[in-house]
Amino acid sequence: RKLVVLISGTGSNLRALLRAIDDAAGTPDDLGARVVAIGADTEAANLALGDEFGIPTFVVPPAEYPDRTTWGDALLARIREYGPDLTVLSGFMRLVPPSVVRGLAPALLNTHPSYLPEFPGANAVRDALTAGATRTGATIMIVDDGVDTGPVIDQVRIAIEPGDTVSALHERIKTAERRLLIETVRGIAHGRVDLVSLTAAAHSDAM
Ligand code: GRF
Repeated sequence: RKLVVLISGTGSNLRALLRAIDDAAGTPDDLGARVVAIGADTEAANLALGDEFGIPTFVVPPAEYPDRTTWGDALLARIREYGPDLTVLSGFMRLVPPSVVRGLAPALLNTHPSYLPEFPGANAVRDALTAGATRTGATIMIVDDGVDTGPVIDQVRIAIEPGDTVSALHERIKTAERRLLIETVRGIAHGRVDLVSLTAAAHSDAM
């Protein structure tokens, strides 16, 4: 499977995926995937990962486009240049326009640092702490047109410890996100995870 991964920040979850791909290469646990390009919305993203792992990178800054639709069309065109079987949003802090979702779904995944549908949106970790929750979680899902509303592929519960700061809790959540992402990519390649049926099931529930 050829993957394109989009990041906005440190890309630590992407780094974990790249390491897992390298570590498992040639073993029965092989992820059956390789990242063919790393995309970002700003130059501020950790695109040095591309140099480190020998992977092409590209940046499609929203500020260079008159509106979200034209930005989305440009983003989709760049992604398609690499012919991915799967596109992963890994800390990509932009809402993907509907045209991009339509162009890539259901092979478009996102990880989110809460137990969806709890705490959707860009401040999930802070929101869980502010709400006084005793537990939160990590989720990997198929991206749809909503905000963190797509079909859940897998999710785990994470306990919130007394005195947890946002960063401490987020780091603990990320370790779970990384495991979910790695297991999902491997599951797709090994035929255990079927994105088409997951999407169809979600639509039938919705009816
Ligand atoms: C992850 O928790 C992701 O779910 C969220 O932002 C974080 C990205 O962290 N959207 P990193 O850039 O992979 O370190």
